[in-house]
Amino acid sequence: MCQENTNNKKKVLSCIQPSGMLTLGNYLGALKNWIAMQDEFDCTFAVADLHAITVRQEPAALRQQIYSTYALLLALGLDPEKNTIFIQSHVPEHANLSWLLSCYTQFGEMSRMTQFKDKSLKHPENVNVGLFSYPVLMAADILLYKPDFVPVGADQKQHLEISRDIATRFNNIYGDVFTIPEPYIPKAGAKIMSLQDPTKKMSKSDDNPNSWVAILDSREDIIRKFKRAVTDSEAVVRFSEDKPGISNLITIYSAVTDKTISEIEKEFEGKGYGEFKLAVGEAVADTLAPIKARYDEIIKDKKTLEALYRAGAEKAEKVARKTYFKAMKKVGFVL
Ligand code: TYM
Repeated sequence: MCQENTNNKKKVLSCIQPSGMLTLGNYLGALKNWIAMQDEFDCTFAVADLHAITVRQEPAALRQQIYSTYALLLALGLDPEKNTIFIQSHVPEHANLSWLLSCYTQFGEMSRMTQFKDKSLKHPENVNVGLFSYPVLMAADILLYKPDFVPVGADQKQHLEISRDIATRFNNIYGDVFTIPEPYIPKAGAKIMSLQDPTKKMSKSDDNPNSWVAILDSREDIIRKFKRAVTDSEAVVRFSEDKPGISNLITIYSAVTDKTISEIEKEFEGKGYGEFKLAVGEAVADTLAPIKARYDEIIKDKKTLEALYRAGAEKAEKVARKTYFKAMKKVGFVL
């Protein structure tokens, strides 16, 4: 059981939004590390459903995506006995602590968040306050569980820094309430780029489905998307800043095969992009196939799924409640 840190393991916390299909970027930037960390660390993982409504969601689709994301976490091989795996909105302390922390967060520092700037440009019709204050909710997600490490992709680094700043500010006023977490960002795969525009992050919210690979895509779709990936005209498999398309494919191949960049460059010396793209597509499809097979089984059994996410929320709330009440007490609320 891992609701209390009764063992000496360091703690890990991370979350993922259930907005649309999870991508190869999510897998290589974050989820792969979650799987790798579950033996060594005391881990808590959540489906961050409250975060998803910062952009408008269709209710039935959102509900389906929450189930599907939870099932996918299990399909990846995250063990619900060993880890605490839950749905964020089932533990009300997240939203509660978020309010408290928002009163210790400055408007100016939130205005600097690049993801807010990007998303408000993308959805100018719905620049809501939740979108603006989203990193405070993320800080609450993290700080409730006092993790030592937070495994995320590079795009979340700025949000993690603000979580650290908020925690430090709170601790400076009230004493030792929160642990200051460290980001845990992978060497290969921290930022997987779009297959159609390699200057942009691979994102499930991209309108062009050829730009991203879903973890649950079929083998044929995966290989087709890699065959169509945008590269350059040099036709040499070489990693270089001025070759973002091919460098992105090399990064992906390296992350799924554990081969180094120079090993890959050697392997494809004198070979064309066609051959390389096919090899990347096949390697990715081979990596994702067993996950998809397990997912197809797990998603059929809604009863077991429900029992697991309910038990996960119960385990999570025991930890979250303690931290939340400690913070409330320090501020001066009557408990
Ligand atoms: P989200 O749901 O957008 O993404 C989940 C995880 O996947 C990583 N990621 C990527 N990594 C590499 N390349 C990419 N193209 C790529 N796209 C996504 C993200 O960095 C992330 O680690 N705000 C978070 C969810 C969240 C959270 C938290 C994370 C809510 N509360 C507390 C950590 C701790 C988000 O929107 O991630």
